[in-house]
Amino acid sequence: MKRMMHLLVCSLLFGIGTATAQSYDSFHPGELWKDNNGVHINAHGGGILLYKNTYYWFGEHKTEGRAGNKAHVGVHCYSSRDLYNWKDEGIALRVSDDPSSPIVRECILERPKVIYNKKTRKFVMWFHLEPKGAGYGGAMVGIAQADRVTGPYTFIRATRATPKMWPVDVLPVHKQPVKPKYMADVPNVYEHPDSVNTLGRDFEKGQHSRDMTLYVDDDGRGYHICSSESNSVIHINELTDDYLDFSGKYVRAFVGRRMEAPAIFKKDGLYYFMASGCTGWRPNAARSAVAPSIWGPWTELGNPCVDAESETTYRSQSTYILPVAGKKNAFIYMGDRWRPENAIDGRYIWLPIEFEDNRFILRWREKWDLSIFE
Ligand code: GAL
Repeated sequence: MKRMMHLLVCSLLFGIGTATAQSYDSFHPGELWKDNNGVHINAHGGGILLYKNTYYWFGEHKTEGRAGNKAHVGVHCYSSRDLYNWKDEGIALRVSDDPSSPIVRECILERPKVIYNKKTRKFVMWFHLEPKGAGYGGAMVGIAQADRVTGPYTFIRATRATPKMWPVDVLPVHKQPVKPKYMADVPNVYEHPDSVNTLGRDFEKGQHSRDMTLYVDDDGRGYHICSSESNSVIHINELTDDYLDFSGKYVRAFVGRRMEAPAIFKKDGLYYFMASGCTGWRPNAARSAVAPSIWGPWTELGNPCVDAESETTYRSQSTYILPVAGKKNAFIYMGDRWRPENAIDGRYIWLPIEFEDNRFILRWREKWDLSIFE
């Protein structure tokens, strides 16, 4: 009885659960990052929405082992005021138990991003969705919506991108018949996407959308940016006013450059882009680019990493670039250090973005805090 009382008092004082919470005043890239319950944050391939002075971090809830790379739970949400300390807000979007649902448990649900629509006052979530049991052949997006930032989000639909719509920069070759060999998504065929007309191949069914991000510009326009055409081309899509669909206006960028993990931010009227190459869970050297308009033209600026392990982006892959509220030109690189053999143990690499000679760079830091932006 005495022991029970002791336990009760302890849990009331220190929070329920066996792990103890800890308070942070700095970032420690690659280390375990514990939430308010003392549990390693579970929001991989994530993105952040700032809403009413609070940051909301949405990401893939992973589970243990290799199987944990598939979606067994859904999209996890955390909130923070200072970016160091995160409160568990629970599961924002749950996978379904209904076998006919596109987001049935064990589908692949990756890189969720949430944006707020001022006109509809709804929170809109998009993510990369692969229907259960079909590997990465689906190449779809899932769209969900909520009335409250932390959810619950209601799944709306799964779709390929822009079916039966040509991009602004369509070429005559895209409207030619496609060779039967390329009608299927032939893995590991790295010919130029225009010589095999991947765009024309997917015209009817809709374009591939795998790794993706969302971006809301200063004028409220929403954009969806994704790896398309068998990961060989980035598509930049405008969204409808309610952010629930593709408007149909889109361009192809970085044709044939095979990029994944897109992230974007804007500084002094210029758009900056970051992405990785295509090596699955294994990290590779990041890419960066700049453009005067989101539609391009994009000029590549090379690998932004400058320290040891730059060839692997410090063993990470981009997922989001976060503007820090209330600070001018302050942006944080958010990357994932994947642990595919034990997915839940994936680590977060957050680093400050620095600007040098008309480009941005990332230096490795063991430990840093927001005073770096002052
Ligand atoms: C990565 C991609 C991840 C995940 C992984 C699967 O390249 O960025 O989001 O899809 O491949 O192998």
